[in-house]
Amino acid sequence: MKKIFLLLMMILMVSGCGGSEEKSSAEPAKVQTSDKKILVMYFSRTGEEYNVGNITKGNTAIVADYIAQKTGADTFEIKPATPYPDEYEACTELAKRELESNTRPALAKNIENLAQYDTIFLGFPIWWGALPRVVMTFLEANDLSGKRIIPFCTHGGSGLAGTEREIADACPNAKILSGLAVVGKDAQNDFPAVQKDVDAWLKGLDY
Ligand SMILES: Cc1cc2nc3c(=O)[nH]c(=O)nc-3n(C[C@H](O)[C@H](O)[C@H](O)COP(=O)(O)O)c2cc1C
Repeated sequence: MKKIFLLLMMILMVSGCGGSEEKSSAEPAKVQTSDKKILVMYFSRTGEEYNVGNITKGNTAIVADYIAQKTGADTFEIKPATPYPDEYEACTELAKRELESNTRPALAKNIENLAQYDTIFLGFPIWWGALPRVVMTFLEANDLSGKRIIPFCTHGGSGLAGTEREIADACPNAKILSGLAVVGKDAQNDFPAVQKDVDAWLKGLDY
């Protein structure tokens, strides 16, 4: 009888422990929220601009700052070690030569803390239907594996052209999302229209 009583006690104790285990495992699993940040990385040129005159802040820079403000992102400006010419004609000629020879112009400086970002908005002007070569330098100088890259460009009529493909080829292990194309001169002359387009695009991306 005593043995049966002891056995019953043990069963009760064990089932009691099991019960509390079950309870703890039924608690909602902790959601692993990402502590990674967003980066807006861009290249943009100042100086003489076709159809606009002299600009002190580039078209892409204007859009980049707005995206950063809306998303709370950090920004990093891609700059060539040797600045592109201020004169529009001279710049287009140099850019054409760089594209034809597929040059990788040196960077003024590289980014140091890329690991803390998992989402990168990448902004650039369309140059001869392509990414400016200095942006290619940047993409190839950094490991963007596993990151979400969201392209945006400013342009004079080409739209994104083949730049999403160029980015995907340069960053084969990154996820490239659908990009936004903004008419460059609107950034200077019709900013409210640009804001509207950017807002709608960001909303579609859940920002
Ligand atoms: C070297 C160069 C090449 C360009 N090539 C193109 C082009 O192929 N297609 C296009 O739509 N716009 C072209 N543009 C216009 C720029 O994409 C447009 O003005 C852009 O908004 C400039 O941006 P930024 O001020 O940020 O540099 C070119 C401009 C430059 C300076």
